[in-house]
Amino acid sequence: MNVYDSERMADVLSPIGYAPVDKPDDADLVILNTCHIREKAADKVYSELGRIRQHKEHNKPDMKVAVAGCVAQAEGAEIMRRAPVVDMVLGPQTYHKLPEMIAKVHRQTGDVLEVDFDTLEKFDQLPEARKPKGFSSFLTIQEGCDKFCTFCVVPYTRGAEVSRPVSQIVAEARSLASQGVREITLIGQNVNAYSAEGPDGRDWSLGELIQHVALIGGIDRIRFTTSHPRDMDDELIRVIGAEPKLMPYLHLPIQAGSDKILRAMNRDHTYEHYKQLIAKIRAARPDIALSGDFIVGFPGETDADFEQTMACVEEIGYGSSFSFKYSTRPGTPGASMPRQVPEAIKSERLKRLQDLLYTQQHDFNKSLIGRTLSVLVEGTGREDGQLFGRSPYLQGTHFDGPAELVGQIVNVVITDAGRNSLVGHLAP
Ligand code: 5AD
Ligand code: SF4
Repeated sequence: MNVYDSERMADVLSPIGYAPVDKPDDADLVILNTCHIREKAADKVYSELGRIRQHKEHNKPDMKVAVAGCVAQAEGAEIMRRAPVVDMVLGPQTYHKLPEMIAKVHRQTGDVLEVDFDTLEKFDQLPEARKPKGFSSFLTIQEGCDKFCTFCVVPYTRGAEVSRPVSQIVAEARSLASQGVREITLIGQNVNAYSAEGPDGRDWSLGELIQHVALIGGIDRIRFTTSHPRDMDDELIRVIGAEPKLMPYLHLPIQAGSDKILRAMNRDHTYEHYKQLIAKIRAARPDIALSGDFIVGFPGETDADFEQTMACVEEIGYGSSFSFKYSTRPGTPGASMPRQVPEAIKSERLKRLQDLLYTQQHDFNKSLIGRTLSVLVEGTGREDGQLFGRSPYLQGTHFDGPAELVGQIVNVVITDAGRNSLVGHLAP
């Protein structure tokens, strides 16, 4: 979502003359768009600000500095105090106010801090027209989260669940399609809780929204992320089975395999529920590949609990995954739970889990050798005549072909597979 937000900040700033540059040397304004999800991401902000300060002092005294995103939301005043180099602090729901904030900074009416929570106001004020970079684009349909998993800061930094109206999403999707975008990924912290007014005045679900976006000419591939197992309803599963433009790849995090840990995480479902859900989804769409998020070392996680996460991965089987050591986040219930797991044990568990997940990912990729996959060509490779694109399962795919194919969807016969990418040749 930060990628999407950064693109939207560029859209908001373009009418007042700003455009992205490649090097800090060329920048009049630096916006650090930040993530608060784990401690490491949040810590990076201060080290990055140190580097920016040096650059400003030595090379660019007039450069302005803004901190945006969830660290700004959570620690705005602290950032202003700790890093005087910062001129502006803005949370994820206020970036439509950037032009106004920049004007204030230039008028030298003091530092500017904006951390309101009005998601819908933001979307009402953002320009409908987009300037996409490539042929695949994110589109935020929902923001925030009401689930309050006990490890997670999102409900505090992004705020309550808010869905954008269907008409606004469709207008944005049309703007993207008119500029050559072929693939749209509908994003939100909890997209399958999507519920907002449709053209008929009723509240539409994610399944209905997907089928409507699928009618837009030029959009040939649709994805959505992230979903919560609690909100996978039968209608959405039916659409996953029935909508050919929807790619056969689903990100459905479970986080941990032990019911005790799932309960402590406030995930509000059991492993059995997840397993049955996956069985239903696979029955509806047999070619689907799954990806998941996993956390090891949540407070109270014993060796036996962790083994249940390993057993879950063995049993379900993932095409790709994201796995993390539990990171204590201030203000979340997890932070004050007893029996925090020592760092060394977390590291050991993560290593074992990732060995398994990466092996599964490589095996999945190898299982595609000999198959013909549709690939959205995103660009040319390093050498002349090389192309690069994405398969339906999101692996980067390398093959030879003419540059005119960039932006098109072509069939590629897969001939080789690494852990992260595929190699092939254009289908005859
Ligand atoms: N520690 C580790 N991982 C976390 N995630 C969210 N909060 C934390 C945390 N405190 C992970 C979850 C989530 C993904 C976006 O980030 O796996 O699904
Ligand atoms: Fe965080 Fe996702 Fe849980 Fe919401 S559902 S609290 S975003 S992990």
